[in-house]
Amino acid sequence: MTKKNKHNWTLPAGTEPTELDKKVMQFQDKGILVPTRNLIKTPEQIEGIRQAGIINTAALDLVEREVKEGMTTAELDKMVHDFIVSQGAIPACLGYEGFPKSCCISINEVVCHGIPSDEEDFWEGDIVNVDITTIFNGYYADASRMFIIGKTSPANEKLVRVAKECLEIGAEAAKPWGLISDIGKAIEKHAKKNGFSVVRDLAGHGTGLEFHEEPEVNHYHDKAKGMLIVPGMVFTIEPMINMGVADIFVDEEDGWTVVTEDEKPSAQWEHTFLVTETGLEILTH
Ligand code: MF3
Ligand code: CO
Ligand code: CO
Repeated sequence: MTKKNKHNWTLPAGTEPTELDKKVMQFQDKGILVPTRNLIKTPEQIEGIRQAGIINTAALDLVEREVKEGMTTAELDKMVHDFIVSQGAIPACLGYEGFPKSCCISINEVVCHGIPSDEEDFWEGDIVNVDITTIFNGYYADASRMFIIGKTSPANEKLVRVAKECLEIGAEAAKPWGLISDIGKAIEKHAKKNGFSVVRDLAGHGTGLEFHEEPEVNHYHDKAKGMLIVPGMVFTIEPMINMGVADIFVDEEDGWTVVTEDEKPSAQWEHTFLVTETGLEILTH
């Protein structure tokens, strides 16, 4: 049996198709997976996401200024929380599917979803991912960066740098009327060239009106191709790059912390992007 893609793109009854409708439906007729029409953000929604992005970026800038050796991850989380709330916004992580803190802090072999804690502090040489999502007027923006505490090993430095390049190269590969799978293909190539692996079990995602929307953005070369990239879509790219094997496990005790199987370090950078007529625009600069 041949696998047919769903006819996601449907016109509301009585509406004349726009140029965009016609173009998307041409791809759909060729059997390419297209987004649903509601994944295309309106100018008003884009403005809202942009505002959330500005606050989210300021929160990450605060982390950049404040993070230091000896501080606990819970102390840093509190700063992030208080800042976001002071802006009239909401930290999306707090209470999300039961997550107990306002951001994710993931150190060394922790891939992502690390829970800030009074028991854990930053040490010289740590490589740290802080992942923050802000809700402002109902709109979401999601981004993360790596921070190095003091001086780390050359191998760790390279991992952090290559992970950032993977995000940039993935974003560069995404073009309107291309496919979401172009992103992961470019990322995996760059990671492998540098001797690193790409986490396969967690993906980037549409965002903006909800925390996690369609499409799924894989960071490896997904032969299943993925969805058509259409102007007005908003999604994250957030490659997790491992020094050793790609395999991961989730801490059974807390149900959140994602750790590399071989306990070698992992690095991740994330932005929220808007698809424009020419390429991707970062909404979390
Ligand atoms: N910010 C993460 C992402 O990039 C999701 C964190 S969910 C949480 O999608 F509950 F762990 F906060
Ligand atoms: Co994300
Ligand atoms: Co995130």
